[in-house]
Amino acid sequence: MLQIKNLYCVRNAGTALERAVLVNLNLTVNKGEMVIIIGGNGAGKSTFFQALTGKMELSSGSIFLDGHDLNQCSLQRRAADIACVLQDPKSGTVSELTVYENLVLASQRGIGFNLARYHCGKQKSDLFEYLCRANIGLERHYDRLVGELSGGQRQSLSVLMAFLQPAKLILLDEITAALDPKSSQRVIALANEMVRANNQSCLMITHDLRQALAYGDRIVVLKNGAFEKEFSGAERDTLTLEGLQDVFEA
Ligand SMILES: Nc1ncnc2c1ncn2[C@@H]1O[C@H](COP(=O)(O)OP(=O)(O)O)[C@@H](O)[C@H]1O
Ligand SMILES: [Mg+2]
Repeated sequence: MLQIKNLYCVRNAGTALERAVLVNLNLTVNKGEMVIIIGGNGAGKSTFFQALTGKMELSSGSIFLDGHDLNQCSLQRRAADIACVLQDPKSGTVSELTVYENLVLASQRGIGFNLARYHCGKQKSDLFEYLCRANIGLERHYDRLVGELSGGQRQSLSVLMAFLQPAKLILLDEITAALDPKSSQRVIALANEMVRANNQSCLMITHDLRQALAYGDRIVVLKNGAFEKEFSGAERDTLTLEGLQDVFEA
């Protein structure tokens, strides 16, 4: 379970450009729960994820994952506990390596990389089985270079890589923004399925309000670095696309 308490982040602290980008954020995400973050450009969504992964230093406040204070954890430990998929399909995968080799790298997230160690038959067949179980056709491209895949195939692979190791927290930042509608649907359905099956906590940023409605157990609106509104319980259950649009555009 993820617990965020009174989180503040300031950019360019101590300079003339000093600016609070995250303001008193409080949020809990249970295991097996998908919470959607929506908000306009510059609202602070990506900065929020950077604060969670440790790329952005907290000015104050704390983040607990299964009761452990993330600020007390090494970056390596964070890398093992938190998996992230970003908007650009290229950012989570290595073009010059095959699908199989990318999966090998993903299998070592948080424990130190070593490609050579994993070039053995058993590991290869295990990873192949993992691809087959996902049932999205990537197994046909197992030995192909990732640079030769389409954006949709590549992002599907990024998602599978993020879920290969049992991270406690999954962060998805506009993962379908660069994809056509069909690939988009396939990738998001895959991520949703994995979160539920693995009972992980998941935060997903999206600009697609239909997607937010379809997959969010709760929907949180971020504006000017602060959580302006949360739809949960009965309010979430009766939320319509129009209702969400009204809040988003306000
Ligand atoms: N590397 C950076 N240096 C300085 N300011 C930044 C940087 N990245 C983002 N910002 C600023 O922080 C604010 C939040 O940005 P960001 O988290 O990227 O928003 P979002 O993901 O919601 O579009 C914006 O005002 C943006 O200009
Ligand atoms: Mg962003």
